[in-house]
Amino acid sequence: MKALSLRELEAAARALLEPGIHDLFAGGSDDEVSLRANEDAFARVGLVPRVLRGRGAPRLDTELLGCRASMPIVLAPTAFHRLAHPEGERATARAAAAAGAIYTVSMASTTAIEDIAQAGGPLWFQLYLQPDRGFTEALVRRVEAAGCKALVVTVDSPVFGRRERDLRNGFMDLPAGMCCENMRPLGPNCERGPARSIAFSPTLSWADVDWLRELTSLPIALKGVLHPEDAKRALDSGVDALFVSNHGGRQLDTVPAPLELLPPIADAVGDRLPLVLDGGVRRGTDALKAFALGARAVAIGRPVLWGLAVGGEAGVAHVLTMLRSELERALALCGCGSADDASPELLHFSRWEPR
Ligand code: FNR
Repeated sequence: MKALSLRELEAAARALLEPGIHDLFAGGSDDEVSLRANEDAFARVGLVPRVLRGRGAPRLDTELLGCRASMPIVLAPTAFHRLAHPEGERATARAAAAAGAIYTVSMASTTAIEDIAQAGGPLWFQLYLQPDRGFTEALVRRVEAAGCKALVVTVDSPVFGRRERDLRNGFMDLPAGMCCENMRPLGPNCERGPARSIAFSPTLSWADVDWLRELTSLPIALKGVLHPEDAKRALDSGVDALFVSNHGGRQLDTVPAPLELLPPIADAVGDRLPLVLDGGVRRGTDALKAFALGARAVAIGRPVLWGLAVGGEAGVAHVLTMLRSELERALALCGCGSADDASPELLHFSRWEPR
């Protein structure tokens, strides 16, 4: 039986995956307060539709960071796809390419960026800036050569969040035969060296963003900007977009849901920087609420892993098909002809109290 919703798909994936792998994907940091908050935030906002607006069938196609996409739903970067399915990131990339959706490849992918790019769809590449600038520069050149259209620099990870599920399960490292393939330096004849591990560095600063801005002409998005003051600071750094994200509740715990933090960030940057929201997006109505509060696109993390676990490429395709049709229906039911038509007037924040 095919899942009718992302939540059904998640249940199917949970039944299939080895429990330690399921926890690795599903879990958050510390008490998982942020993890729960992400999905809850969407449920707490109501939609009040407008009627008889005659906008016609909604259009979902869009352009983001100079990249055409069939819908404003992006695949967020998630590590280790080969733990979900033997074909791993290749399967994800084929499904995304077929759907015309932008796939943000994680720096921690278990398939090399050159091999993922074979699928031919629009790719962005997620980067953790490494203290070894020479290594970062070499990787940026590889990513450019592979045809990626933008860099998504994750800035919410000066250190690694504490994931107690993984500690309890004893998940320490990838199994033999799997590694973070982008962390193998390429030799002069493209032979791949031994993988190094990804470094998280609390010394990173805006100066490193300035350095990267000088290094590449690819558009740069910063992922994990949540404070309006940082969003304003980003305006001065020459970056091209922000991901409003709490890393799916996996880094600092008790950070509010990105949906709640979106309005002040949208106020801070106005039209000057497009905003991508991720964290807890599980329905087309969720995406619509994010658009109404100022996001240009949303990104999905775990649902892609659930699709991959259940059906490889077809499973990811199913995730994208479900969300696309849900978003089309939500827009039509709200009287919107596109995501641009979504505005705060459609939202209801309950202040109801029994009299
Ligand atoms: C992530 N995320 C993430 N982010 C990033 O910048 N680099 C990475 O390598 C990863 N890896 C990763 C692995 C797994 C298993 C998860 C669940 C998440 C965070 C991801 O990009 C995104 O911010 C969240 O997953 C969005 O929340 P949802 O859609 O999972 O609720």
